[in-house]
Amino acid sequence: MNRTFTAGRLAEIAGVTRDHISQLENDGVLAPARGERNQRLFTADDVSRVLDLTGRRVRKGISVVNQKGGVGKTTTVFNLAGALVLEGRRVLAVDLDAQASLTVSFGLDPSSYARTSHDLLTDDNTSAADVIAATGVDGLDIIPADIRLASADVLLREMIMRERILSTKLEKIADRYDVILFDCPPNLSTITINALVASTEAVVPMETQFYSIKAVDDLTRTFNLLAARMNHHLAVWMLPTKIDLRIKLTKEFLIGMEANFKDRMLTSIRTDANLAKAPMVKEPAVFSFPASRGSRDYRRIARELLAPVRAASEPA
Ligand SMILES: Nc1ncnc2c1ncn2[C@@H]1O[C@H](COP(=O)(O)OP(=O)(O)OP(=O)(O)O)[C@@H](O)[C@H]1O
Ligand SMILES: [Mg+2]
Repeated sequence: MNRTFTAGRLAEIAGVTRDHISQLENDGVLAPARGERNQRLFTADDVSRVLDLTGRRVRKGISVVNQKGGVGKTTTVFNLAGALVLEGRRVLAVDLDAQASLTVSFGLDPSSYARTSHDLLTDDNTSAADVIAATGVDGLDIIPADIRLASADVLLREMIMRERILSTKLEKIADRYDVILFDCPPNLSTITINALVASTEAVVPMETQFYSIKAVDDLTRTFNLLAARMNHHLAVWMLPTKIDLRIKLTKEFLIGMEANFKDRMLTSIRTDANLAKAPMVKEPAVFSFPASRGSRDYRRIARELLAPVRAASEPA
């Protein structure tokens, strides 16, 4: 089913007034269908058109990365991808973990694909278009992973320009998507570096435990190396996950993080069993449990990531 947007939502997403939308209809730029109550219904194509006209289209590559396991990387890609679709954006989610949890979350069978992200990374003759698959969610595509990816790092070591393989191949299809999200494996392998090089931003999910800090330190060193050696500068966002504010230590940890990372912090994702359940119903929680805490949290960070970057001199 094609997702539709009301005039109010379209205006909100594009950051224009409803009058502006009506004007575009009068000019013949937009021709909405009518809903059951005769309301105007716009498509994701209309959203794209208005974003282009208002110069508000963003193109982002976002690595969801942390070499620490189980912090919520896959959960974040799964639900953020859905939340971005609800903001009218076209999204590509790239599964870069041999466990293929993201692929499986969408109800897809990793072994059913002739070629996956493994081939994209290790075979010169596989293009991005060869490995893009549908997820069942309109406006959201995936590059699936499979278990062979576990051996890709060894193969990559032999390849020239090995850090740039993903970015070079994805460039060819970049104009099809507003946001490309990378679900990174829990290590700092060449695969992870490939995702970072193909990204403009990094989102670092982290649990509020003392030993999370060590992982973030190591990761920061990797970001600094990319800047120093490849002149590749990422906007980095910290994302506290599995937050329960009733726990005193969690509150203290968050206060410490906010003092440290300031405006590089996204709003926290609270603990919510619906987020753990969503892969079982094969759909991001933003669709299957839209009113849940987790869905609302992921929709909020989708808007935070899409917000136009303010110049330092602009008032808040
Ligand atoms: N906000 C949350 N509330 C409740 N459970 C969560 C939340 N975020 C993640 N989880 C659960 O925590 C577990 C680990 O999450 P997830 O698989 O997303 O982490 P990961 O960082 O991708 O792990 P890995 O490093 O193994 O790839 C999963 O069972 C997931 O359902
Ligand atoms: Mg994962």
